[in-house]
Amino acid sequence: TEMCSDLTERVLLYLDGHERVDTLHLAVLFRVDHQKVIGAVKSLQAVGDLVSVEQMVHKEWKLTDEGRKVAENGSHEAIVYKAVPLQGILLSDLTNNVPDLKIGFSKAMSYGWIKVTKQGKDSLVTRKVESITDVVQEHLRDILTDNSSQVDDEHKQVYCKRKLLQELTIRSYQLTKGKDFTISVEKAQSDLTVEMVASGSWREEKFKPYNLDALGAPLNCGHLHPLLRLRAEFRQIFLEMGFTEMPTNNYIENSFWNFDALFQPQQHPARDAHDTFFISNPQISSHFPPEYLQKVKQVHSKGGYGSQGYGCDWKIEEAQKNLLRTHTTAVSARMLYLLAKEGFKPSKYFSIDRVFRNETLDATHLAEFHQVEGVIADYSLTLGDLIGTLYEFFNKLGITKLQFKPAYNPYTEPSMEVFCYHAGLGKWIEVGNSGIFRPEMLLPMGLPEDVNVIAWGLSLERPTMIKYGLNNIRDLVGAKIDLQMVHNSPLCRLEKNGTLGTDVIQM
Ligand code: PHE
Repeated sequence: TEMCSDLTERVLLYLDGHERVDTLHLAVLFRVDHQKVIGAVKSLQAVGDLVSVEQMVHKEWKLTDEGRKVAENGSHEAIVYKAVPLQGILLSDLTNNVPDLKIGFSKAMSYGWIKVTKQGKDSLVTRKVESITDVVQEHLRDILTDNSSQVDDEHKQVYCKRKLLQELTIRSYQLTKGKDFTISVEKAQSDLTVEMVASGSWREEKFKPYNLDALGAPLNCGHLHPLLRLRAEFRQIFLEMGFTEMPTNNYIENSFWNFDALFQPQQHPARDAHDTFFISNPQISSHFPPEYLQKVKQVHSKGGYGSQGYGCDWKIEEAQKNLLRTHTTAVSARMLYLLAKEGFKPSKYFSIDRVFRNETLDATHLAEFHQVEGVIADYSLTLGDLIGTLYEFFNKLGITKLQFKPAYNPYTEPSMEVFCYHAGLGKWIEVGNSGIFRPEMLLPMGLPEDVNVIAWGLSLERPTMIKYGLNNIRDLVGAKIDLQMVHNSPLCRLEKNGTLGTDVIQM
C-alpha cells in the first residue's frame, strides 16, 4: 500500500511530538501555503479520527499598499513639513513640489506644524515648529515588523479610515491527536480498478468515502454568442408557430434569385455596387430553370399576369452576376419556386441567417448582419392575415403594441414597416419590414392564382443589442469583442409579458 502524501505525513509526525499545533504555524514551519496544510488535514479527516480539529479565528493587522509607502517614506503630513524649508516657500511652489499635497497639507496645518501667511496673490508657507515626530510612520513600522500590540486600537481605527491599514480575519485549525491517532496511515484508495477486481485485492483495500460536497470540476465548454442565443429564441418562436426552417447555407447567390425572381428591376439602385458585394470569382452563374427564366424575363420586360412590367430590356448578363446575398428573401424565392414545382400545399417557412450589404460602417451598421424572415403561403391570404400574424409573432417576443406604416419593396404590395412601442426607451421603434408578395413574383413561379404569400423580415442584431444593453455593434460582432462578454452573457429569454428587454435597457 502507498504511504500517505508527504505533507499529511509531516503533519502527523509533528503532532506525534507535540500536544497541539495551529495549521498557520505548520504553514510557516513547513514553508507551504496555508491552504495546502488545510488540504492535508482534510484528507487525514477523511481516513478516520486521526486528528481532532478545532476551528480558530484570528485577526491580523496588515498595511495596505499605501500604508507600506508611509512606513517607508513617512506620512503625507511629514512629507509636506519636510518640503517646507526654514525660510518658507510659496504655496504655488509647494503645490508643484509635492504630489498629492492636499491630505498632508491640511493634516500638517491642523497639527500646527506649518503656517500660512498671505503674500500678494500667493501665500507663504513656513514651519511653525522646529521639529516633528512622525508618529504615523512609527506606528506603521511597528505593525509592519509584527509589533502591532505597540499601537493602541484608537490609532489603528484612524489608520484604517485613512486606508493605510486593514484588519484581516484568518481562519485556521487547531490540531490535537484524535482517538485513532497513528503516524503510519495507509492511503485510502480513491478508485476501484480493474486490477483490484481481478486479483480480489479490493477485499482488503481501504476506500476513501465519497465526498458529496466536493465541487464538480468546472466544465471548459464553449459559450453561445448573444446573437446565437437570441437566434435560438427566435427559432423556438417560429417552431411554436408551425414554421419550417429554410436551408440558408449559401452566402453566395446570383442576381437572378436575389433580385430578378423578386421582380426587382435590373436598373434598381440597390443592385448598384454601392449596396451589393459582387463576386469576381466565379463571376457568373449559368444554370437557371429555363422555362421559369423565360417567364421572369417576360414579366420584367413586357409584363403579364395583369401587370405592365417595367417596359425595359431584361438582360441575362445582369441576372447571371454572382453576389453575396443582400437578403434572405432570395432563399424564400427559391423555396416558393420549389413549392410551386413540387405541387403547392399551404406552407410556413422561416430563416435566420447572414446577409451582406456594402454599407457605410458606423456604431449600428456593419457590412453583414443577420435577417430573421418569416413566409406564409396559403390560399386567399389578406393584409388582415399579415397584420394578425405579425401581432402573434411579436406578442411572443413580448411586444404587444404595433403600428404599421406604408412602405415600398419591389417584391411586395402592399408593404408595411412595423413599429413597436418600446416602454424602456419610451418611444416607437422600427422593428421590421413586411408585405404581400406581388403576383409578378409568384405567378411566373407557377403558384396557383388564388395563393397569396405574406412575409416579413427583421434584423437579429438590433433586438440583441437592445436586449443586452449594447449600443455599439462592434461590442457585439468583430475582432474587438470581449470574449468574457460572450462568456458572461446571461441566457436569453425574451420577456413573455412586457415589452422587449425593458429590464436591460441602459440607453
Ligand atoms: N427582404 C426585406 C429586407 O431586406 C425584408 C422583407 C422580407 C420585406 C419579406 C418584406 C417581406 O428588408
